[in-house]
Amino acid sequence: MGPTVAETLQQAVTRLGQGLDKSSPRLDAEVLLAHVQNWTRTELHCRITDPLPKSRYREFLRLLDERAQGVPIAYLVGYKEFFSRRFWVKPGVLVPRPETELLVEQALTELRKTPGPTRILDLCCGSGCIAITLCLETLGTTAVATDVSPDALAQSRENVCFFAVEERVEVVESDLFSALSKEAFDLIVSNPPYIGTEYGPRPDANVAGHEPALALYSGADGTEYLREIVERAPAHLIEGGSLVVECACFQAERVEAWMADRGFNQTCLWHDLSGLPRGVSGRWEG
Ligand SMILES: C[S@@+](CC[C@H](N)C(=O)[O-])C[C@H]1O[C@@H](n2cnc3c(N)ncnc32)[C@H](O)[C@@H]1O
Repeated sequence: MGPTVAETLQQAVTRLGQGLDKSSPRLDAEVLLAHVQNWTRTELHCRITDPLPKSRYREFLRLLDERAQGVPIAYLVGYKEFFSRRFWVKPGVLVPRPETELLVEQALTELRKTPGPTRILDLCCGSGCIAITLCLETLGTTAVATDVSPDALAQSRENVCFFAVEERVEVVESDLFSALSKEAFDLIVSNPPYIGTEYGPRPDANVAGHEPALALYSGADGTEYLREIVERAPAHLIEGGSLVVECACFQAERVEAWMADRGFNQTCLWHDLSGLPRGVSGRWEG
């Protein structure tokens, strides 16, 4: 047998403390070890004196090494929790972010204003977490989810099957709106790439090193996709339909102004827990 759980965790915390991402060494170590042992973290805490089988210990050291080099935990364990559900995610696909749960909440607020089953479009769907969550959180909603990345499209389809929403979420390869018919939706929702290649906030070095550039960057100041979505969304919205987009805090007021100029009504920003604006919504009255 190998070292005990307690010894292994102590060793891992030291190793991760010298790694590239030192933000949460104890939590990371526990999540990885629980994953290798196929235990919950509570079981890990209850079995702290158990020795580890040597093969599991070796597997843990391999994952620990990758984590120390900044590989996101989600890629190592294969999933990320989003809106209290586990979405499968592999390298090549953006790891769903907690702030995107705010986008989902905003979209749900919009959906609840619409009587009857609704039809939504999720542009730039990545793992599919937004479209799938919106369908699972509401009755009868159906969705089209689009992306251009083959990895993202495959991941979305895997998650659609996993959550058994094949009848409700259609995953379509499309460069923004280009492959879509003239169908008009009740709601268009999007978390597009919004990082600038030349200015604006830089992504964390670990994010830039491990997550796909296609999911991150959008022109010099990060707003190319946002502008195009605001411009083209009305052609795909019913009268009274809504557009809900995530963006960086410093972009939100500009996006809101573009929406108002484009003819959207009732535009509003929503904020994260630190009070920063993280997205914009607006209603299209035709
Ligand atoms: C910020 S990620 C969001 C992923 C997912 N919606 C989420 O919130 O986790 C942006 C996504 O846009 C996709 N993308 C990039 N360019 C695109 C384009 N021209 N048309 C459609 N999707 C695009 C990327 O492949 C990536 O999956």
